[in-house]
Amino acid sequence: MTPFVFHTTPSIEFGVGGLNNVGALAKPILGDRVLIVTDPGIAALGLVERTKSILQAANIAVEVFDDVQADPPEQVILDATSQAVQNNCTGIIGLGGGSSLDVAKLVAVLSKRKQCLADIYGVGNVAQGRLPLMLVPTTSGTGSEVTKVSIVTTGASEKMGVVSPVLLPDVALLDPELTYGLPAHITAATGIDAMVHAIEAYASINPNNNPISKGLAVQALQLMLPQVLNAVNDPGDKSARADMMLGSMLAGQAFANSPVAAVHALAYPIGGHFKVPHGLSNALVLPHVLRFNCETAPDVYAELAAQVLPDAKGATGFVDHLAALSAQCGLQQGLREIGIKQDDLPMMARDAMNQTRLLVNNPRPLNETDALAIYKEAF
Ligand SMILES: [Fe+2]
Repeated sequence: MTPFVFHTTPSIEFGVGGLNNVGALAKPILGDRVLIVTDPGIAALGLVERTKSILQAANIAVEVFDDVQADPPEQVILDATSQAVQNNCTGIIGLGGGSSLDVAKLVAVLSKRKQCLADIYGVGNVAQGRLPLMLVPTTSGTGSEVTKVSIVTTGASEKMGVVSPVLLPDVALLDPELTYGLPAHITAATGIDAMVHAIEAYASINPNNNPISKGLAVQALQLMLPQVLNAVNDPGDKSARADMMLGSMLAGQAFANSPVAAVHALAYPIGGHFKVPHGLSNALVLPHVLRFNCETAPDVYAELAAQVLPDAKGATGFVDHLAALSAQCGLQQGLREIGIKQDDLPMMARDAMNQTRLLVNNPRPLNETDALAIYKEAF
């Protein structure tokens, strides 16, 4: 068997109502003064106040940074770090969607004040430890609570990544109850993103694709494929919410160790230039990239389909099912529907070629001409 490495979060606490235990869980790990890193939407829902009072009841002093925005710019990370340093925080809690969790990971590292943000961009450049860190997702999508990656927006739309096992938190607290109020369109987009993580991880030709990631990807899809529509149609469907949260975490573990490929590579220019949410960007190109891949590499998708969607007729049936599911979830179905013009497509294809770290994992080689053809199909 080919050698591989597999990193993940050492402690995962999963259960409905788990947030009620955040104080008891945090005290021995995070110490007596924590910074909650979150966004204004989560604060408006009352979740921050609730978390704060549970922590305070456990004799933990709480600072709150609630200014995280989607596609977080560098300044957000620097501001949150200053708050942690000035208040001598002993631990960090990320509470929210992928952006809040990504920011919390970086704040935990930078609060050590041994490296600055510019030093740690890239793979394996975090040379130090971090403050103790707990991540509490409120969406089922990014899997950020179990990935060693944080993405930062560095210019108008350019993104940089920090990749290091140091970014894995000490503990991930997954409470499906936190997603009951999530609106349908966010549930749909984040749910499709999570499924793309599993599909791309399974089919990835990255040399570190491994049996653990493949097994997790299969289990993730078995949980999410039958439930995503239930979660979209009935936000309070407890069984669907639990399966989506568990599935998205398992898919996160899968792709953290067997990286994603061309669906994400072609989604990034859509998100970057047109401010389209990450999950929707993925959904818009998903069937078209998979159909392109299926022309030369159908076996891997047929193998996956046999395990997660046995009624689908092989690779083609699998892709058709995914396309239909995206439409049933109410997501937009063409690039033109989100304001992209035909003239934008060549620029997007050129931009997608910058995602070499993702494109090398794709089961079929994909050049700029191919990317343009896929965008035209997706238009
Ligand atoms: Fe993603």
